[in-house]
Amino acid sequence: MPRIQPLPDLLISQIAAGEVVERPASVLKELIENSLDAGATQIDVQLEEGGVKLIRVTDDGGGIAREDLPLALARHATSKISSLADLERVASYGFRGEALASIAAVARVAITSRSAATPHAWKLDAGAADSAPAALTDGTVVVVADLYFNTPARRKFLKTTATEFAHCDDVLTRMAQARPDVAFTLTHNGQLKRRLESSDFARRARDLLGDEFLAQARNVEAIAGPLRLSGFAALPAYAKRTRAEQYFYVNGRFVRDKLLVHAARQAYADVLHGAHHPAYVLFLELDPAAVDVNVHPAKTEVRFRDARGVHQFVFHAVQRVLAAPLAAAQVAAHAAHGQQRPAPTFAPAQQASFTLREPISTAATAYLDFARQAFSDAAVPVTPAQAGAALTFGATDHPLGYALAQLHGIYILAQNAHGLVLVDMHAAHERILYERLKTSADRQPEVQPLLVPVLFTASVGELASAEAHADTLSTLGFAIAPAGPQQLAVRAVPVLIAGGDNSQLARAQLADQD
Ligand SMILES: Nc1ncnc2c1ncn2[C@@H]1O[C@H](COP(=O)(O)OP(=O)(O)OP(=O)(O)O)[C@@H](O)[C@H]1O
Ligand SMILES: [Mg+2]
Repeated sequence: MPRIQPLPDLLISQIAAGEVVERPASVLKELIENSLDAGATQIDVQLEEGGVKLIRVTDDGGGIAREDLPLALARHATSKISSLADLERVASYGFRGEALASIAAVARVAITSRSAATPHAWKLDAGAADSAPAALTDGTVVVVADLYFNTPARRKFLKTTATEFAHCDDVLTRMAQARPDVAFTLTHNGQLKRRLESSDFARRARDLLGDEFLAQARNVEAIAGPLRLSGFAALPAYAKRTRAEQYFYVNGRFVRDKLLVHAARQAYADVLHGAHHPAYVLFLELDPAAVDVNVHPAKTEVRFRDARGVHQFVFHAVQRVLAAPLAAAQVAAHAAHGQQRPAPTFAPAQQASFTLREPISTAATAYLDFARQAFSDAAVPVTPAQAGAALTFGATDHPLGYALAQLHGIYILAQNAHGLVLVDMHAAHERILYERLKTSADRQPEVQPLLVPVLFTASVGELASAEAHADTLSTLGFAIAPAGPQQLAVRAVPVLIAGGDNSQLARAQLADQD
């Protein structure tokens, strides 16, 4: 065994950098956070080659005094906290005093800064013995060049310039979303990519995510005791194939927290198809002492003291917003944003009944039954496309208007005050079943005994499951019993889903029990 010896300082920082500095975007995140912590109102970011060659962040914040410059680059030196008590209620982005030291261990770093009281700025190159006078009106410029120049192995993990730039743009987007009061510019290889004027949350969200997002989003504003949730939750019709448009902040810090994502997801559960992801920009605020931000190297995960309470609060706040009738919610949202855009004109549908003007095939009559429900119930949405429609029209008795025609035996073309709606009847059918099952969830379901039991060849697992879970199955409205050494008989199914393939239904139930 070799003897134990202390690691050299540079190596310690390089190891730390392994956690903090994953790619140019992580450097950018740290630099922007520092600028925000310094009270900047304007932050300019210049990148070259996706940030690998150069990242320059210029701010108009409070600056760093000459004698503090070496400390800014030193490990475990910070101006943001000085005790455990401070750490436990930290409200700044930074607190470890480690970011710049880590970055300086894997790139060439130079800081130029001017603090208010000094006649001119000072510049310090990491590694240089002393600072030198420099020209700068106010604030700080941090330049990070040649990332991983001294750790070539890590350099190999970097992706294309375009990818690294995209990550940097994501970082800036996230930070800018949380701080609409701060103006940002982003330049890549000399080209201006973003210019964000200082504004309010709604306008910033629109600048970053587009008109479509804001037009489809509802305003979230909820307070419960020490918890506050604000921001925007997009209607289901705006759902995306990826999670890219999910922005969650805790006390202004962007996080990817499982608990929060889950709570939001749950709020959309009833109105969003499983393969789609909701879009939202949500800001949770709470007493900094009630949340631990010191659990992840990139600070993107947090730990809540009252995790359950936070989950419930977020879930209910978002769900309530999604369930509210659109007209009122939008008027409120627009009023709150102080926007000039008029609220959508909203005329309740005049049609009192569902009329179908085309002959329909017998195969479709079953669905039509459901169609009537969908059109005349205050039914909730069916597929993402209809989800928007149904929510939009949710305030009337006939959310989807009235039907005009049936297309290809599966679609219903409907009309209402807002225009034409195309409804997939299969999906509508499923949706209505789901709603019925849900509302009857805590009641004993009505049971449909089968005149002729349906027999099917069962696996050992299915036989065992039928026996072990006979009680549960009967609570659900199924009667499934052995009818031979390798056979099960279905003798009853819940009325709500009668008329399907009973052996398949039974199989699915048995599989679900395990
Ligand atoms: N843009 C800036 N303007 C003013 N001061 C800055 C700026 N960037 C860094 N500093 C000073 O340098 C110190 C070290 O910065 P660094 O990012 O390394 O650590 P930190 O922000 O304190 O903590 P963390 O490691 O969690 O980011 C800060 O505490 C701050 O005093
Ligand atoms: Mg920092």
